[in-house]
Amino acid sequence: MKFFAASLLIGSLFPLIPAAPTPQSPSTDTSSSSSDKKFIVVLKDNININQLKKHTQWAAKIHARNLQKRQSIGLPIERHVSGVEKTFDVNRFKAYSGSFDDETLREIEDNDDVAYVEPEQVAYIEETVTQFPATWGISELSNRVSNSSTYYYDSSAGEGMYAYIIDSGINFSHEEFEGRAELGYNALKHLNNTDTSGHGTHVSGTVAGKTYGVAKKANLVNVKVFQGRTTSTINIFDGFNWAVQDILEKNRTNVAVINMSLTTKTSKAFNAMVDSAYEKGILSVVAAGNKNLSASLYSPASANTSITVGAASRGHVRGSYSNWGPSVNLFAPGTGITSAGIANDTAVRVLTGTSMASPHVAGLICYLRAAEGLTDAKEVVDRMLGLAQKGVLNETTLNESPNLLAFNGVELNTNTYYEEPVGGDNYYY
Ligand SMILES: *[C@@H]1O[C@H](CO)[C@@H](O)[C@H](O)[C@H]1NC(C)=O
Ligand SMILES: *[C@@H]1O[C@H](CO)[C@@H](O)[C@H](O)[C@H]1NC(C)=O
Ligand SMILES: *[C@@H]1O[C@H](CO)[C@@H](O)[C@H](O)[C@H]1NC(C)=O
Ligand SMILES: *[C@@H]1O[C@H](CO)[C@@H](O)[C@H](O)[C@H]1NC(C)=O
Ligand SMILES: *[C@@H]1O[C@H](CO)[C@@H](O)[C@H](O)[C@H]1NC(C)=O
Ligand SMILES: *[C@@H]1O[C@H](CO)[C@@H](O)[C@H](O)[C@H]1NC(C)=O
Ligand SMILES: *[C@@H]1O[C@H](CO)[C@@H](O)[C@H](O)[C@H]1NC(C)=O
Ligand SMILES: *[C@@H]1O[C@H](CO)[C@@H](O)[C@H](O)[C@H]1NC(C)=O
Ligand SMILES: *[C@@H]1O[C@H](CO)[C@@H](O)[C@H](O)[C@H]1NC(C)=O
Repeated sequence: MKFFAASLLIGSLFPLIPAAPTPQSPSTDTSSSSSDKKFIVVLKDNININQLKKHTQWAAKIHARNLQKRQSIGLPIERHVSGVEKTFDVNRFKAYSGSFDDETLREIEDNDDVAYVEPEQVAYIEETVTQFPATWGISELSNRVSNSSTYYYDSSAGEGMYAYIIDSGINFSHEEFEGRAELGYNALKHLNNTDTSGHGTHVSGTVAGKTYGVAKKANLVNVKVFQGRTTSTINIFDGFNWAVQDILEKNRTNVAVINMSLTTKTSKAFNAMVDSAYEKGILSVVAAGNKNLSASLYSPASANTSITVGAASRGHVRGSYSNWGPSVNLFAPGTGITSAGIANDTAVRVLTGTSMASPHVAGLICYLRAAEGLTDAKEVVDRMLGLAQKGVLNETTLNESPNLLAFNGVELNTNTYYEEPVGGDNYYY
């Protein structure tokens, strides 16, 4: 079921990930006192899982001892110091989170196992704007002319693939998902799985919805880390850690992709975790961010191995809000994207943002894997970048981003399925 014409192969000469400017140290954010702040302690590369366990036992002891010491000499017990909370094991990335009094934190920093300590940060769901109904995005992936109204795709449609959606949840009962969405994991254990913002449901619809999706037969795995528009990086680490463990346990490395439509200020730990998963063959597709700034200022967009997606508008131009620069790997439709809404099980919603662009690429990765039997992470990324339309975006809007627009390589033949997009006005697709 392969129908890629040789003329579409632009070649895989692009580096896997354009060199990102060195991330700035994120640890400048020490405005509030350490005692009510949580930290992520990243251990050195050579530390194994048993050593991580031993280390956290050691840290727990030091924490208990220092608290007792404070009490015995009549110092106030610092509030909100929990000690070690969660541990993260993503290939060679070993870390844990928690809150500690200053003395414990100093001892942790001085410990030989420790590479660096980073305060938790706020991560944001990229703001979105509702626009006039349209579903031109998936059409754009399969047409060389912009603003067309038909989506062409191979009938494999991502079957057997899994997209892990690290977001606000998925409304499972929505008709778009046809029972292909799994519960997965909820990092916010005190809250229901319900997607109250609709963000995760919308992106999921773009990845794999039956009408609005790129990979219409792929499976979705819900990893809820957001309730409103913000969350702690620790919740994201927790969700990401779970996704990687689940992918490895279920032998899904070659059929999975992790999608994150969120940004935080550049975090060395976040980037290291994403890169470490990649070394195990696990791909992360992430939004460039909606600040009209260099994507190198944000994580996970600036990670070496994340597939960072900028947003395009109709007419082959960068979305004016989309982040840009060499940390971006390619562009995909992000402006005015129709997908699943949460008002009811058939609701639709039109949203704009790089959060809407990255799921097109997550879906495309599922699609290419199923259509071409690609397995290896580097192989599928090279293929995707090779297929992307080169030089079609208005260069004056790109600010040194690569001039690449996602494309599914479809050639029209008897195996090609197509659909006339639905929803909204009949002329505006
Ligand atoms: C979770 O859902 C249940 C059942 O739908 C509901 O009764 C409960 O109030 C919800 N809890 C929260 C925290 O939203
Ligand atoms: C894991 O999946 C691959 C195909 O992706 C397969 O070749 C291999 O046998 C599987 N391993 C196990 C342990 O199921
Ligand atoms: C990212 O890539 C650059 C350039 O290849 C390299 O210097 C840097 O060490 C890499 N960073 C990480 C965290 O691997
Ligand atoms: C897209 O197509 C519609 C309908 O044909 C047209 O009205 C609109 O101006 C086009 N937009 C762009 C950016 O070309
Ligand atoms: C984006 O930033 C550039 C400067 O880098 C500015 O000229 C332009 O007006 C901005 N666009 C928007 C939509 O804010
Ligand atoms: C899905 O949306 C319906 C309303 O349409 C709501 O009742 C239900 O709780 C939602 N489920 C999830 C898992 O978000
Ligand atoms: C579902 O929600 C949409 C809004 O997206 C609304 O137009 C439609 O009437 C609703 N359908 C039902 C059956 O409530
Ligand atoms: C995929 O990630 C992008 C940005 O990283 C986000 O905007 C989008 O909502 C995510 N999609 C899903 C389905 O989670
Ligand atoms: C590219 O964008 C610039 C600035 O918006 C505009 O002036 C120019 O006409 C565009 N070029 C093309 C070929 O559309």
